Amino acid sequence: MAQINPSILSADFSRLAEEARAVEGADWLHVDVMDNHFVPNLTLGVPVVESLSRATDIPLDCHLMIEDPDRWAPQYVEAGAGSVTFHVEAAAAPVRLAREIRAKGARASMALKPATPIEPFEDLLPELDMLLIMTVEPGFGGQAFLDIMLPKIRRTRELISKHGLELWLQVDGGVSAATIERCAEAGADVFVAGSAVYGADDPAGAVRALRADAER
Ligand code: DX5
Ligand code: ZN
Repeated sequence: MAQINPSILSADFSRLAEEARAVEGADWLHVDVMDNHFVPNLTLGVPVVESLSRATDIPLDCHLMIEDPDRWAPQYVEAGAGSVTFHVEAAAAPVRLAREIRAKGARASMALKPATPIEPFEDLLPELDMLLIMTVEPGFGGQAFLDIMLPKIRRTRELISKHGLELWLQVDGGVSAATIERCAEAGADVFVAGSAVYGADDPAGAVRALRADAER
């Protein structure tokens, strides 16, 4: 079954609790943490995640686009995130970090930028609860979906099946009514959507419509 995770990067940051309520029915709330170093943008950190986790019943899917996730990721679990994604390009010890996230009680997830291949990380997959394939360069909402990522989604789904894993496969960036079916067909099952949800007049309706498209 498809999961739809609205990204609050496209929400109004002065009203995050209300914006969380506006996407009732969403599976997770996707929280983009950016540090101005790993990506050229700055968003929010641990205190905001802590407040938001108290303000909504929707579990938080924290996507860390930051340097040194080995140091910071565990704090997001303590702040209440149900899932924590670190970028493999930034992690010094991805296996150790994934184990630490799981040991602290959250789902452990690893993200790949568009130019990072999956093949070198095949042996790490059993350590993860989710793999995130970026379908734009991380840093900003509202960018165009990169079609050339579809073969990578497909190859990753094949590796997951080959190893008989329960791993979720998430896509993030440019996911909309125009692209979600292709992502689902390629094997993704968790869909992040920022502008396609928060740019809509009825964000909860957009979540329902995306889910229907993904399951078509
Ligand atoms: C981009 C972020 C995404 C972003 C997606 O770096 O990781 O989560 O919010 O926004 P859209 O869906 O508008 O491409
Ligand atoms: Zn994201």
